[in-house]
Amino acid sequence: MTDIIQANDLYLAYNNDEPILKNINFGIKSKEFVFITGKSGSGKSTLLKSLYSELGVAQGSLKVAGFELNGISKQKRNLLRKHTGVIFQDYKLINEWSVEKNVMLPLMIAGYSKKICKAQANKLLHHVKLSHKAHRYPLELSGGEQQRVAMARALAHNPILIIADEPTGNLDEYSSSVIWELLKNVRSHVGSTVVVATHKLPLSLGVNYRQYYINEGQIDEVH
Ligand SMILES: Nc1ncnc2c1ncn2[C@@H]1O[C@H](COP(=O)(O)OP(=O)(O)O)[C@@H](O)[C@H]1O
Ligand SMILES: [Mg+2]
Repeated sequence: MTDIIQANDLYLAYNNDEPILKNINFGIKSKEFVFITGKSGSGKSTLLKSLYSELGVAQGSLKVAGFELNGISKQKRNLLRKHTGVIFQDYKLINEWSVEKNVMLPLMIAGYSKKICKAQANKLLHHVKLSHKAHRYPLELSGGEQQRVAMARALAHNPILIIADEPTGNLDEYSSSVIWELLKNVRSHVGSTVVVATHKLPLSLGVNYRQYYINEGQIDEVH
């Protein structure tokens, strides 16, 4: 299997501050399920932001889905984002839009016809068991339901890479287990690679996964 993510002597920093991650090396293969763990403030979100190219590479090399992110052009970055689905702790839904329209968003950006966007959104809403909420608005839903909408949105354009930053951070145990189940099934449904930052691993995931731990600017695999 080929590496979908490969970091070589990678440094990540905000502005000219001391780097958050220093000279790190790691690889993630296509279709793997990988956890990024570490204490609060260790750099988990920073690493994920670099993977979806929200944060630039300070130094070294970071390849994602065949794109070198060090010095990537805006055009290529947009292309990369079409292959990526991102899920956040605070869902980041558009509260003024219906659930259905939120899920249609990545497809609308990709330029599909309204009819196709709607059909795909409803397929995904069925998958996350929210068909009955399609015409509701995010703030009329529970946190767990909002995260399922965010999951549907992240999957809508069949991304090859799913990135989730503390996806269960705001959820109770039951809603968390539903989200883990959905994330676990992502690979069998669309065959995506899944990278999840969390400070709390699920008790049992039921699939093979690898885990990295970030500490003091370094990343190490946990065996
Ligand atoms: N936009 C930013 N500008 C400057 N520093 C930041 C920014 N975002 C995060 N940091 C700093 O980077 C470090 C790692 O933060 P973060 O990646 O959010 O950690 P984690 O997700 O593991 O809790 C922290 O010291 C934090 O203060
Ligand atoms: Mg974080």
